[in-house]
Amino acid sequence: MRTILVANPKGGSGKTTLATQLAGWLAGKRQRVVLADHDPQRSATEWLARRPALFPPIIGLPPGARKGEVRGFDPQYVVVDSAAGLHGDDLADAVRGADMMLVPVSPSAFDVAATRRFLATIGDAKPVRRGTLAVGLVAMRVDVRTLSAAELDAFLDGVGHPLVAHLRDAQVYVHCARDGATVFDLPRSRAEQDWDQWRPLTRWVARHAARQGD
Ligand SMILES: Nc1ncnc2c1ncn2[C@@H]1O[C@H](COP(=O)(O)OP(=O)(O)OP(=O)(O)O)[C@@H](O)[C@H]1O
Ligand SMILES: [Mg+2]
Repeated sequence: MRTILVANPKGGSGKTTLATQLAGWLAGKRQRVVLADHDPQRSATEWLARRPALFPPIIGLPPGARKGEVRGFDPQYVVVDSAAGLHGDDLADAVRGADMMLVPVSPSAFDVAATRRFLATIGDAKPVRRGTLAVGLVAMRVDVRTLSAAELDAFLDGVGHPLVAHLRDAQVYVHCARDGATVFDLPRSRAEQDWDQWRPLTRWVARHAARQGD
């Protein structure tokens, strides 16, 4: 079982979008996947409640639920959607329990500053220092042709963790949030550009999952 933590204490940075989409990609690959909602706002849980029954299944673990509740399901992946403001013991616990961590970052000066502080904090955690926790950054809501995207890239270049993907700012993500869907559930005609943007990210996940052994 692999646990992928999606974290950035900055509110609205794109955690739930990234976590739900990633869970959907894994489900589409016929993996048994649990989406663990660690946010009392329950956005991921509510998204899952809206998910059409015909789409590849994802098992939800609502906030406060115990992991044991899904043990019988024997998940291959657990994707954790964490809450804004994650810090202290909760952050240390989340990091300790994870095999990979994805950090969404939006191209705004506020997000960049908050993310810089967050990465400095997690840099002290043992699994990060030892390299047992793979950390990947995801640039969210970016138009790669803009200056702010270039500035974001420049920042992300120097933080010591790879920038694994750029995801565009697009209504398709807003619609997916509303409909319990992911870009992987949509027809090629609507989502091909997004599939292309996701490819380096899904490859990064697959590579680290394979590397970490059983
Ligand atoms: N690539 C994108 N394109 C367009 N809208 C996006 C994109 N990514 C996220 N959003 C929108 O931005 C808002 C914030 O995203 P999201 O809820 O995923 O952030 P979050 O980090 O989970 O927030 P919170 O800290 O409150 O849990 C949502 O309305 C979401 O639909
Ligand atoms: Mg969220």
